[in-house]
Amino acid sequence: MTIQTVATTPFAGQRPGTSGLRKKVSDYLQPGYLENFVESIFNTLGDCSGQTLVVGGDGRYFNRTAIQVILRMAAAHGFGKVLVGQGGILSTPAVSCVIRKHAAFGGIVLSASHNPGGPDGDFGIKYNIGNGGPAPEKFTEAVYIATQSISVYRISDEAAPDFDKIGESRIEQMQVEVIDSVADYAELMETLFDFPAIRKLFAGGFTMRYDGMHAVGGPYAHKILEGMLGAPAGTVINGTPLEDFGGHHPDPNPVNAAELIAVMFAKDAPDFGAASDGDADRNMIVGRGLAVTPSDSLAIIAANATLAPGYRDGLKGIARSMPTSTAPDRVAKALGIKCYETPTGWKYFGNLLDAGLATLCGEESYGTGSNHIREKDGVWAILFWLNLLAATGKPVDTIVREHWTRFGRNYYSRHDYEAVESAAAEAMMENLRAQLDGLKGRQLDGFTVDFADDFVYTDPVDHSVATKQGVRIVMTDGSRIVFRLSGTGTEGATIRLYLEKYEADPARHDIDPQQALAGLAAIADQLSDLKKRTGREHPTVIT
Ligand code: G1P
Ligand code: ZN
Repeated sequence: MTIQTVATTPFAGQRPGTSGLRKKVSDYLQPGYLENFVESIFNTLGDCSGQTLVVGGDGRYFNRTAIQVILRMAAAHGFGKVLVGQGGILSTPAVSCVIRKHAAFGGIVLSASHNPGGPDGDFGIKYNIGNGGPAPEKFTEAVYIATQSISVYRISDEAAPDFDKIGESRIEQMQVEVIDSVADYAELMETLFDFPAIRKLFAGGFTMRYDGMHAVGGPYAHKILEGMLGAPAGTVINGTPLEDFGGHHPDPNPVNAAELIAVMFAKDAPDFGAASDGDADRNMIVGRGLAVTPSDSLAIIAANATLAPGYRDGLKGIARSMPTSTAPDRVAKALGIKCYETPTGWKYFGNLLDAGLATLCGEESYGTGSNHIREKDGVWAILFWLNLLAATGKPVDTIVREHWTRFGRNYYSRHDYEAVESAAAEAMMENLRAQLDGLKGRQLDGFTVDFADDFVYTDPVDHSVATKQGVRIVMTDGSRIVFRLSGTGTEGATIRLYLEKYEADPARHDIDPQQALAGLAAIADQLSDLKKRTGREHPTVIT
């Protein structure tokens, strides 16, 4: 068989966003669209001969087709070997784990994360480098530039080998090894957490509901929770990945995982509830009658980390994205370690983890993780909580309340305004930026502005600078208002408004968060004129 050189022309807009190139499936169905992007990745990598690549995705519509194309193109670019998850299935954290374990050159993750799937949904492709993490912006920008001048791509005319059966085959000179989607990942989890203690917990009648949201987490939860840890069958619901996620939005938050929330807030609720997203890197943790905010989850994991065997020696540092609440900062202070504040997006944690500056990291968007891989990790976070529950013997809500009593409660909420007209959103941000200089010291409805800026991050390791990472207005009591535009949306612009208010007094830890944050929300609207500029009275989603 031969390697074909196919003439092509550039597509506009192939610039990777917060997390790879996320577009409508209909974009990806255009002839050459996927090929152009993959060719640009391979060309940016340079010489790929003899290298090992990992490929897998969350099983959404177009996953299989894309893998066939990538295998044929990888063969044309001289890769020595591709490791593919069985059936094309690998969660995003599993890709990271497999890259690291097999010392691969890098990997391709096929997912649009929590975005809906199916023919009318979204698809995405992301390149991860040899440390297992998303490629840095330098690389993704170079890929984008390559997409803008592409004229040919190279592809084998051989059919891609079957990747439904575990085993080895070849295409051209390249070896294709189909691996168990879960095995390497499960093995890593067993080294981090106290599996015997969690097994004992389940054996003692502890009940749990894990919602796989018909996404890629299901196979991992089936094997680890119900298999290795002995949770009763039925613990995992919606555990079979579907190409369209059963028509649902596979985002584990109280809005999209309403079914799980209803179960956990009912009278006969299980002891513990959890969910993960499309590609299983996000997680939601729920106790009886209490959904734990992701910022609190990170803080609580950090405060109790030494209860898990893999973290027994303590933490080197914590890192959180800027819009994430400052709850983890309080824990870091108590532990005498640093808490790094990074721009939104997991890629910014990579250098801190590689340099050994941080052990745990997290984002308010239901992402939590550690230095065990270089992606956030939904199943890992759920296992961490199980480990805490087993080690303390306390229920989720007691652990959370005790944490608030010790550190104070950071009331927190994110308001999303989705599919807003892009020009209106940009204008709103510009107008906010223009006000920043005059805000310091201003009294706003009972709050005094401590400082206001457009977040700039200087990476402490490679000193690269990321600008315009979100407008933040920080009050003297630590309360914060943050505005930024989403980098993952596929329709118009999405405005994200993040609100945070600190409350030290345990007698005031039972207020409804939206009520606790109402004053800040009103200030945010006054400053931004969001409602008038966008014509939206209410957020599309509140988490
Ligand atoms: C969103 C989240 C961000 C996360 C990213 C990828 O990005 O806000 O924290 O890293 O998805 O999961 P955004 O759409 O806000 O750019
Ligand atoms: Zn995800």
